[in-house]
Amino acid sequence: MQIMRKKSVEQSIKETEEPEHQLKKSLGPIDLIVFGIGVIIGTGIFVLTGVAAATKAGPAISLSFVVAGIACGLAALCYAEFACAVPVAGSAYTFSYASLGEFIAWIIGWDLVLEFMVGAAAVSIGWSQYFQAILKSLHLSLPTVIAGGGARGAVIDLPAGLIVLILTAVLVMGIRMSSRFNLTVTSIKLAVLAFFIIVGVFYIRVANWTPLIPPAEPLPSSHSILQLPLLQVLLRQPQTAYGWTGIISGAATVFFAYIGFDVVATTAEETRKPQRDMPIGILGSLIVCTILYIVVALVMTGIVPFRQLNTAAPMATAFAAIGLSWAASLVSLGAICGLTAVTMILMLGQSRVFFAMSRDHLLPSWFAAVHPKFRTPYRVTIVTGVVIAVVAMLTPIDAVAELVNIGTLLAFVLVSIGVLVLRKLQPDMPRTFRTPWVPVVPILAVLVCLYLMVNLPVITWLRFVIWLALGVIVYFTYGMHHSRLARKRDW
Ligand code: ALA
Repeated sequence: MQIMRKKSVEQSIKETEEPEHQLKKSLGPIDLIVFGIGVIIGTGIFVLTGVAAATKAGPAISLSFVVAGIACGLAALCYAEFACAVPVAGSAYTFSYASLGEFIAWIIGWDLVLEFMVGAAAVSIGWSQYFQAILKSLHLSLPTVIAGGGARGAVIDLPAGLIVLILTAVLVMGIRMSSRFNLTVTSIKLAVLAFFIIVGVFYIRVANWTPLIPPAEPLPSSHSILQLPLLQVLLRQPQTAYGWTGIISGAATVFFAYIGFDVVATTAEETRKPQRDMPIGILGSLIVCTILYIVVALVMTGIVPFRQLNTAAPMATAFAAIGLSWAASLVSLGAICGLTAVTMILMLGQSRVFFAMSRDHLLPSWFAAVHPKFRTPYRVTIVTGVVIAVVAMLTPIDAVAELVNIGTLLAFVLVSIGVLVLRKLQPDMPRTFRTPWVPVVPILAVLVCLYLMVNLPVITWLRFVIWLALGVIVYFTYGMHHSRLARKRDW
């Protein structure tokens, strides 16, 4: 029974008013949309789209973006209801604590902390590679030993580690400053995407889009079972790429491109009028990005035959293939800005979830202290920043994007169920934004997200289960006994 204990919404809100745990409320609706776009547009569109088009969906990758966008849109409607009803740091974690009980909340919090950490480390490694590509175009290069990227003789990835530490400092100095910094890099990133679309449109050859959905092709028999979508393996379906299965497994991959609108919800406690602004921030940033992604994917696959896009910098590849090398360098610059913002906001989201969990004493409460001057959760920011920097410097991270996807999809599933549960448990609670067509929207959100999850590779499932198992051990050995809810004398 202990593990089912719930923390009431009122209690969650009351705790945010304790002086030692108070975050500064300074964000408005535009800040939130910029935050959302800042974290949403990144590795997904700049890096993963090309590989997904080349190996999974073909030109139909634009349809994959539609499918993933639908999953996110449904989940976003559920997030929006929660974020304005429970404007408390921690997002899916806090929402689950109020609706599904402590154990599920713990699992989702644990899941989010790790996903954001691994995500931030992975994006910073991508940043480092783009950074070095730009150095190269200036005829400069780093000594191999500190260059990372899996090169022979490389021991650490110093640029990745350094960018994480710099961003940690920005985050400690205050969310307002991080928001301004974010506005600048996000503007550059949007300008570069607009540039790609406007220039690229003139080079589209309709032949590259035909057929839009390439017929399914058998995969080479050397393809490891670990890399196949779980569903294909469970149903013993023939192992194919492209076709309808390709669109769905493509969607499960490019889903990464949408991750981030849920991070907007983690800043609810720092928003001046969360009731009004949270739905605007969450839905607004998602709509802008969905439209951009579909258009960019169409342009990209229209410029070059999709099989040529199997690179880490597909937009640059597309421009280079039509002889516009200068444009390719410009796009790399935009990618750098994009990846900087994404790394920073993933770190921001992760520190807020960790903060919320320590405030509940599920993790040591030492972490939950807020800086006396900057009013940011500085301890947790610094500690996790250093961990992310070390991981980024030392780990060659492959396929982490899919690991991040599976965790986020699970969070979406639980938040959508949470909306249903909370409507039952507290029907009269004030909700300034109500998810429309309940229970249809939450149920559809759960089904679509689960469908994408089972279309992720077997290896991703294995890694994910190991993470969760570790989380269960930490909960039963630490969190369950220290939980603030468990210790009535705190109240
Ligand atoms: N949506 C973010 C990206 O694509 C995580 O990098």
